[in-house]
Amino acid sequence: YYVTSVSSCSKVTGQSHLLQFWKELSPEEQAELTLDLQGMDFQEINGFFKKAMETSCSKQEKMDSRMEPVPREVLGSVTRDKESLKDWEVAGLHCISQSNVAVLLLAGGQGTRLGVSYPKGMYDVGLPSHKTLFQIQGERILKLQQLAEQKHKIKCCIPWYIMTSGRTMESTKDYFSRHNYFGLDKNNIIFFQQGMLPAMDYQGKIILENKGKLSMAPDGNGGLYRALGSQGIMDDMERRGIENVHVYCVDNILVKVADPSFIGFCVKKGADCGAKVVEKTNPTEAVGVVCKVDGRYQVVEYSEITLATAEKRSADGRLMFNAGNVANHFFSFSFLRDVVQKYEPKLQHHVAQKKIPYVNAEGQLIKPDKPNGIKMEKFVFDIFQFAKTFVVYEVLREDEFSPLKNADSQDAKDTPTTARHALMSLHHRWVLNAGAHFIDENGRHVPAIPSLKDGTDLPIKCEISPLVSYGGEGLEELVKGREFHPTLMIDENGVHDKVRLGYIK
Ligand code: UTP
Repeated sequence: YYVTSVSSCSKVTGQSHLLQFWKELSPEEQAELTLDLQGMDFQEINGFFKKAMETSCSKQEKMDSRMEPVPREVLGSVTRDKESLKDWEVAGLHCISQSNVAVLLLAGGQGTRLGVSYPKGMYDVGLPSHKTLFQIQGERILKLQQLAEQKHKIKCCIPWYIMTSGRTMESTKDYFSRHNYFGLDKNNIIFFQQGMLPAMDYQGKIILENKGKLSMAPDGNGGLYRALGSQGIMDDMERRGIENVHVYCVDNILVKVADPSFIGFCVKKGADCGAKVVEKTNPTEAVGVVCKVDGRYQVVEYSEITLATAEKRSADGRLMFNAGNVANHFFSFSFLRDVVQKYEPKLQHHVAQKKIPYVNAEGQLIKPDKPNGIKMEKFVFDIFQFAKTFVVYEVLREDEFSPLKNADSQDAKDTPTTARHALMSLHHRWVLNAGAHFIDENGRHVPAIPSLKDGTDLPIKCEISPLVSYGGEGLEELVKGREFHPTLMIDENGVHDKVRLGYIK
């Protein structure tokens, strides 16, 4: 019965080729394929395809004439608004102490470029401690809870919502359980799953990955909004009294999870939506910029503007469109609820042309060497246009943004090595700011700015556990006036360097 009903449905919707190898499949494979097909709403998928292709074809013209930069009134900056920073931090920490702040991690990506078979959050970039991205983030949350509790003398929690996809859910959950949730209460870590969509060829036919399996991929980090509704996450947030949500990506090793200054800034400005940005300094850097288009906020990709616009400068010499998007956002709960309930269906999928392995009509597996189809994705920033009070918060890239995208190789950007170096060099600066120094093998003071060795910048090996310091605070009493021989490790067991305890690597 199921096969017949699926078969007639797929015929009506032009997808009957999915059953072309049916007779060759084993009973188990047939059962699996039936299950997959039953879970699909072909009409909806065809509709997504049609709309996404229409929009992507009509989007050929450049945006330049419709763009305006972010106005100064909605911009907060860690370098230009130093006098307000403390107030924002205090306000954010107060919200955290009231347990009305949640963090939401986007971890449903496939990590294709990094090329590992397990979720990216489980990646060890080779720090002295060998902590993974998940562990670093979990410990930052724990520390921030403690800081808020100490300051406000009240018990609090920061619920951690973790979005995974079909392929990463089980291994992610298992990893957290094996690591005892990094000391957090497991009831405050909520896993949920985003949707998947099939890859399609340019005619809208779903691609078969093998004779009995559809080629499926997560529906983009903007799949978040549909998942928040369908998985009951908004209800969970409401039950917990969440008012402010910090959304971030799994791959940024420097991410300040639930950053009190960012949250405080957004809350004090009465914002419903906020974007953290880093300054884009090179006109040709392929980063999306936050700006206004026809009076509404959005992220404009580098490919959508001309070089002349990318190169435009303001009177202060900085690029005019310099608000580099790092997928790090603030949403008020009520805004997020409106998005989930009202706006999500209005968001259209973006089209990404990809090389998608497929099985041809003769049943052979083909790995194409040029794009042969599309994947459809929504993006997390697609909802900026619906914000009533939108704000932008500018931070320093070297302090807050170093994403892990690619495997190590010569000339590659955003690799395990760059992520590791970024974290160690930030921690090095924290130690210097706290009044300590480093000594090299010859007993000489190491200069604050590392010298070029073998053509590579080699940072001092220095790592501070998030359990000791969330953002550089609390280090003076541990290190002021002292000299260290790298590798320096500061963790819950104390301060150790090469001479004192031999954490040498
Ligand atoms: P990227 O677009 O960089 O994708 O995701 P990726 O999966 O990490 O890597 P590639 O492109 O396959 O190599 C940015 C962030 O959005 C999340 C990712 O987990 C990452 O935190 N993401 C991406 C999702 O949560 N769901 C998706 O469908 C796509």
